Amino acid sequence: MKTLNASGVGKAIDRVEGRLKVTGMAKYASEFPIPNKVYGQGINSSIAKGEIIDIDASEAEKLEGVLKIITHKNAEKLQNFEQELGPKRPDTIAPVLQDNKVHYYGQYVGFVVATTLEIAQHAVRLVKYQYREDKDPAIHFDEQRAQAYKPNDSSDYSRGNMEQGLAEADAVVEETYWTPIEHHHPMELHAVIASWENGKVTAYASQQMIDANVTGIANTFQIPKENVRIVAAFVGGGFGSKLNIERHVIMAIMASKMLGRPVQATVTRHQMFTNTGMRQKNEQKMRVGAKKDGTLTALSHETLSHTSTTQEYQESCGFVSKMLYKVANNSIKHRLMPMNLQTPFAMRAPGEATGSFALECAMDEMAHKLNMDPIDFRILNDTQTDLSENRPFSSRLLVECLRIGAKKFGWEKRKQQPGTQREGNWLIGYGVSAASRKAPYQKTSAKVIIEILDGKPHATVRMDATDIGTGSYTIIAQTASEYLQIPAERITVEIGDSDFPKTPGSGGSWGAASYCNGVRAACINAISQLKGESTNAVGGDMDLGALLTQKNLTKYEAIGTAEPSEEFKKHSVFSFGANFTEVWVDKDTGMYRIKRMVNVGAAGTILNPKTAFGQIIGGLTMGAGMVLAEQSKVEPNFGNFITRSFADYHVPVNLDMANIEVVFLPEDDKIANEMGIKGIGELGITSVAASIANAIFNATGKRMRDLPITPEKLIEASVSNVHQ
Ligand code: MOS
Repeated sequence: MKTLNASGVGKAIDRVEGRLKVTGMAKYASEFPIPNKVYGQGINSSIAKGEIIDIDASEAEKLEGVLKIITHKNAEKLQNFEQELGPKRPDTIAPVLQDNKVHYYGQYVGFVVATTLEIAQHAVRLVKYQYREDKDPAIHFDEQRAQAYKPNDSSDYSRGNMEQGLAEADAVVEETYWTPIEHHHPMELHAVIASWENGKVTAYASQQMIDANVTGIANTFQIPKENVRIVAAFVGGGFGSKLNIERHVIMAIMASKMLGRPVQATVTRHQMFTNTGMRQKNEQKMRVGAKKDGTLTALSHETLSHTSTTQEYQESCGFVSKMLYKVANNSIKHRLMPMNLQTPFAMRAPGEATGSFALECAMDEMAHKLNMDPIDFRILNDTQTDLSENRPFSSRLLVECLRIGAKKFGWEKRKQQPGTQREGNWLIGYGVSAASRKAPYQKTSAKVIIEILDGKPHATVRMDATDIGTGSYTIIAQTASEYLQIPAERITVEIGDSDFPKTPGSGGSWGAASYCNGVRAACINAISQLKGESTNAVGGDMDLGALLTQKNLTKYEAIGTAEPSEEFKKHSVFSFGANFTEVWVDKDTGMYRIKRMVNVGAAGTILNPKTAFGQIIGGLTMGAGMVLAEQSKVEPNFGNFITRSFADYHVPVNLDMANIEVVFLPEDDKIANEMGIKGIGELGITSVAASIANAIFNATGKRMRDLPITPEKLIEASVSNVHQ
């Protein structure tokens, strides 16, 4: 997009909220100085399955400062699930403390409210629970296989004939890949300060999707949506865990209703393993068939995952395998097993992050079997049509990402034969993976208020959008700057409040496209209304101040709404990319280093290269985390998570991610939306795990199919016998 404006679309301006962040002025949910607030702390069950038979709160109640202890015995009756294993969504109700049943270790079984956080936490330890414990909880993945079921009609997909495709193949790869339970762990803990006043709820809450979350709260308490207000001005990361209302929010509201005071509930890091969602363990079985010349003939992707015993969540790992390559015979299946663990939920590019690991490793295995370069193999099987939907991609620069990335990375230096590039004790390997992620766009409204302040035009933009650290404030300001033709410093962005016009919130990589097109619509409406034009003309000479003065106005408000076009619906809209990794593996210890990465993305209009770079770096770090370290472990006898903090749950640090180049290809896609924006919030993560695992194979000849790839696993693995 062309702009003459120094702070308009496409300019690498600094974050408009940066100063607030670094000076501590940006308020996160638990930081609002709400007068008279008290502190609630959830009590977690200490069994994985069973019933509460007795609760003795007498000692806790005696503690000075304890105001209320809520358990299933005195909790308010809430809306309960209509069906067993109903789907978990961002707007789903969140009943809590409704009966004496325990479904997983760590489930909330009570909530203590006290005058200070310390007293509340102390009191939690004094409440005594007696359980009738079921000694055989479903906590072992392998033991639940017989319980696997097909969650819904869209869990399976097929085209052509898989068996015929395999019969036509000259080579077949049939392998299984595993990803462990992982947790989102945004830096900002989940938190809420909730007040119930005259039947109305106000919640300062760390949430990603305000309007859906208003629905969740309203439906849980069976009150109208108008009676719920959520404020989420700044959110310190979410990664999917804050897409929905979790139960600390509901308990805080319930307590506020009982006490007549605002109640704050901050989930501890330890509780974030059991009470705020997770990515479940996935077992992905791949079958790939190809001709000698590299033509794919068959591709099947079967995923086995677990959900909880009360609610259903399916991560669609296989969906990437139905659209990424040209293959006539294709079969996708997803199966779920109910387990006594909390309900999993969308985490960091759900589907693609894990699914691409399996698919892109299997593609590498096949390329190797055919003695083909893995980039050539992918390019040979590229498609401009989404065969699963029988419609074209709005734009797809995957081949360009692979080619340009290969050049920047120096792919030509890669040795096809594994284990043949060495430097002293180090085995050096290169790996590649394709990246893809749906770029959805949803109906979004924004309000723009234009006024003259200090003799100059100024604009305020309002919408219920959220900024989860991604840069929403900045790109919203840039969009208003672009279409109002005033500098970003004269634009105030007010988001994160359900009183403002509705947006789909931040999730699924739809935030940027939705927010900015909504803001654009509002700005264009304002200007065309001021100009008295019936058509929504963009551009031309315009002086906002003069426009107001001409009309004798000091202030003007307009609302705009943007939504997907008919053309959008006729296309598959995805962002694409490729990641290239060089690893060095110590041949004796199995310790390895990511030496460098080159990531190329094609995601339409890049609104701000600086914030976009940050998003991709974040995605790459999460992807590297999947391979290097991230895993949550369930204690095999009791079903609790033995990973309880960042001391046990490891994430990459700066040194792991030291040398990264990020490139965006120019792409103009007006089918995606008016501004040509395709999301990048999740694109980065989708290609990392496979590119590292493939690089490790290239370095060592070892196929590592079970994440994370720890040095112990690597040293114990044998060299794969398939290489020629
Ligand atoms: Mo995302 S996993 O939709 O925050």
